[in-house]
Amino acid sequence: MRGRVVGEHEVIDLTALGADFVRDPYPVYAALRARGPVHRVRIPEGAEAWLVVGYEAGRAALTDPRLSKQWKKAAADFPLTSPSAGPHMLNSDPPDHARLRNLVVREFTARRVQGLAPRVQEITDGLLDAMLAAPDGRANLVEALSFPLPIAVICELLGVPMLDRAAFRDWSNNALSATDPAVRYAAVQEVSGYLDRLLDDKRRHPGDDLMSALIRTTDEDGDRLSADELRGTAWLLLVAGHETTVNLISNGVLALVTHPEQLAALRADFTLIDNAVEEMLRWDGPVETPTYRFTTEPYEVGGTVIPGGGELVLVALADADRDPDRFPEPNRFDIRRPAGGHVAFGHGIHYCLGAPLARLEARIAIRTLLERCPDLALDADPAALTWREGMLIRGPHQLLVRFTPAERS
Ligand code: HEM
Repeated sequence: MRGRVVGEHEVIDLTALGADFVRDPYPVYAALRARGPVHRVRIPEGAEAWLVVGYEAGRAALTDPRLSKQWKKAAADFPLTSPSAGPHMLNSDPPDHARLRNLVVREFTARRVQGLAPRVQEITDGLLDAMLAAPDGRANLVEALSFPLPIAVICELLGVPMLDRAAFRDWSNNALSATDPAVRYAAVQEVSGYLDRLLDDKRRHPGDDLMSALIRTTDEDGDRLSADELRGTAWLLLVAGHETTVNLISNGVLALVTHPEQLAALRADFTLIDNAVEEMLRWDGPVETPTYRFTTEPYEVGGTVIPGGGELVLVALADADRDPDRFPEPNRFDIRRPAGGHVAFGHGIHYCLGAPLARLEARIAIRTLLERCPDLALDADPAALTWREGMLIRGPHQLLVRFTPAERS
């Protein structure tokens, strides 16, 4: 890999690596890691960034207070605009971060999430009933299960069952992954207007749901959650529901069907499901590099000093979780590997708030799918799958599978 040299730093153009990099970025990250923990890169979104690779350097960057999550800290000539419809915990630093997170955190207690299990099972069963009714025994798993399940769950939690799901999916995909800045910007504008209308409607017809609870907090104590913050938080939770768990289910099922001995081991002993989901997160997690961080001061990584003043720093979570210094034989997908320690949900104060929910959904969805489809197989050449573009999200656009429908037990 060679790149042009700016100042003393070589710039590696990741966009020039094309579809091969999108399909399988892991060897590229590993080659960079062999040369050092930080590299100047050009990313498909149309900006230059400092890419941190490896487990230790990645975890350190995720917790360093010199890296801000606020877009207003970006350098004046930074070419991109924020993909968010408003301020929220993930684009805030302390002390605002804690205030915004605490308002939502009580809704995501382990108890409340566990209480959702019967409903997650019910939605999964309904989706699989529809999928298994296909007379030709074929389906696109993304459309049949991976996408609709997390959306249904987050919409119920928030209390927005009437969300225009098709439109929201386009806005969310474009705001996060479009490589054309104008498309990204337009998506954010449109979704902001849509969310304001949705929130107005909720104000008029409140319920026993998370969005109504967040609105009430605003009304009781006006300076705690502004209208902008309310819109931003709704955006964050809906996007998290649209963009992440879908790819845990798809990437996880893909890993299983392309590793028949692992699939057989899981089928033989479903008590392995919790561990298997952790390995799916480590081996091919949905978040390739998490959200943007901007330097507020010079930041040194492995002898390279990244200047202060709003330089973009990206942490390759995908590479941290394949670092052989942390995970022996990291490229081997092994559902019996000791679970834990991966950074697929991030690390530090921004550690994923929805992790217990995502785990619950993935366990129920994947286990039920395997139980009801004893001969589930990929109905495509894995090398021909097309993958989401951009650095943030990793997952296939479609996952064609075939099966012989099983009777319900
Ligand atoms: C497999 C599914 C998921 C993965 C892999 C994932 C991954 C992540 C990661 C890596 C971060 C940290 C980002 C950073 O530091 O830049 C994060 C934060 C967050 N996630 Fe998730 N997520 C998932 C599902 C969910 C779900 C279902 C929800 C909500 C219902 C959710 C809500 C959040 C929130 C609110 C934050 C921000 C936390 C903060 O800033 O304090 N996530 N997630």
